[in-house]
Amino acid sequence: MTDISTTVTVRQATHSDAATLIAVLVEAFFDGPVADWLVPDPNDRRAVYRRYFELVLHHGLENGHVDTTEDLSAVAIWYPRLEPSPKGSLEYQPALEEATGVYAPRFTLLDAVFEAFHPGEPHHYLAYVAVNPGQQGHGVGTAMLGQYHRQLDALGMPAYLEASNVRNRELYVRLAYRAGPPLILPTTGPTIWRMWRGQPGAPAPAAFPASGPPPRRRSL
Ligand SMILES: CC(C)(COP(=O)(O)OP(=O)(O)OC[C@H]1O[C@@H](n2cnc3c(N)ncnc32)[C@H](O)[C@@H]1OP(=O)(O)O)[C@@H](O)C(=O)NCCC(=O)NCCS
Repeated sequence: MTDISTTVTVRQATHSDAATLIAVLVEAFFDGPVADWLVPDPNDRRAVYRRYFELVLHHGLENGHVDTTEDLSAVAIWYPRLEPSPKGSLEYQPALEEATGVYAPRFTLLDAVFEAFHPGEPHHYLAYVAVNPGQQGHGVGTAMLGQYHRQLDALGMPAYLEASNVRNRELYVRLAYRAGPPLILPTTGPTIWRMWRGQPGAPAPAAFPASGPPPRRRSL
């Protein structure tokens, strides 16, 4: 059997990949408990998500590191978080409100909860990962994340993410992340699991890494 990790070519994304990768993000995140909570009206969701993920992807290209595959079927948006309160873009919040319109309060609340529970230790943050729905379940996500994890391992750098459902939580456990206490979003929101991938070879800490101080400015 072919090992998919040797057939998936991963590279850094550029602005010229944006249109395709925004569509991958919209379709991959279209269903599920977080989408149902953020934009309950399915008739509005695609248009809101297109504007939202356009903002998210360009923010990632300009302020973080975005990986994709040669066929543009997958995207991962990473942010090095080497200090507890990284500098965020001052333009982000007004742009978020414009992109998400009447749904802005929930997008803003989600960001605020994620930020409040973000670990204070230096790490790289996987803000979004998505594979085109028609190509999911064939090892593409594992291969793409595996390449970035190998770079982090060489640096002795931990990684952190929030898992939005039980199924992808299991994927991250297989990739050496450990689940922390779940976050339950206010106003009947979905459960989210905080996931921490420690330095390779480091003994598992007794407790999940503590959250950092409240941010002075927002970042995605
Ligand atoms: C999660 C995701 C990036 C994984 O990429 P992938 O190429 O499908 O994953 P792989 O083939 O390498 O690994 C398969 C595992 O991924 C997870 N997975 C696959 N499809 C999934 C889906 N639609 N939703 C959630 N998890 C999924 C499962 O753990 C699966 O293992 P299983 O089949 O034993 O349940 C991709 O499925 C996806 O884009 N899902 C929708 C968006 C999403 O949930 N993103 C992550 C937010 S935290």
